[in-house]
Amino acid sequence: MRKKIVAGNWKMNLDYNEGLSLFSEVLNMVKDEATGTQEVVVCSPFIHLHSLVQLAKGNGRVSIGAQNAHQAESGAYTGEVSAKQVKSVGAAYVILGHSERRQYFGETNQLLAQKTDTALANGLKPIFCIGETLQEREAGEHFNIIKTQLQEGVYHLDADKFSQIVLAYEPVWAIGTGVTATSEQAQEIHAFIRQELAAKYGQQVADDTTILYGGSCNAKNAPELFAQPDIDGGLIGGASLKSRDFTDIVKVFN
Ligand code: PGA
Repeated sequence: MRKKIVAGNWKMNLDYNEGLSLFSEVLNMVKDEATGTQEVVVCSPFIHLHSLVQLAKGNGRVSIGAQNAHQAESGAYTGEVSAKQVKSVGAAYVILGHSERRQYFGETNQLLAQKTDTALANGLKPIFCIGETLQEREAGEHFNIIKTQLQEGVYHLDADKFSQIVLAYEPVWAIGTGVTATSEQAQEIHAFIRQELAAKYGQQVADDTTILYGGSCNAKNAPELFAQPDIDGGLIGGASLKSRDFTDIVKVFN
């Protein structure tokens, strides 16, 4: 059965020392406080990855992820970081297709398909983000957009490879805006995604796929969101920057 996961996305926040102290606090809280969350993932800037992996050693429930990795194996791509490099410091996950990467860095579904292949080939588990903009939702296009993101981004994978992926539904209009999707809106899309996965990969794979919700998720709204049958946890931006807020979300599953 699929895993319950709460993942933090620090984005481009926290200097090196700030990141280490936040993570140490989270580790202590997660260790001491009971939760049904099976895996806690912290996705930090590249500069923190190695140290966070070292700090997390011995805590089987906490994993580390990057927020991006290049599609090429290696080479002359000044300023970029490869999946192999991310993996070599002990990170387990990489966020791919976040709407900020799509919007500000022009990442297309086609590029993301390549990044997904490279990440998987190097033993990283992608947290693959999909979601519609406000304009697309208002035009009634949200189901189509999500279907296309899946088709073009991950459907080239066989079932075995696809099973390594965690999906995150993040409506763009809810990210960092304080406007969260209602639990009904989120559940509707999550159920749609699972139904699409069942059609493509079969019911078993669909049932085993963790689908996270992201977009202004906090300790207040998480209980209702996480109670939905097809919501298996969250991808948390703003609220992952405070140890108490983040741990309270981790504790929602009981
Ligand atoms: P937010 O970000 O929780 O600050 O809305 C979520 C995300 O971008 O992953």
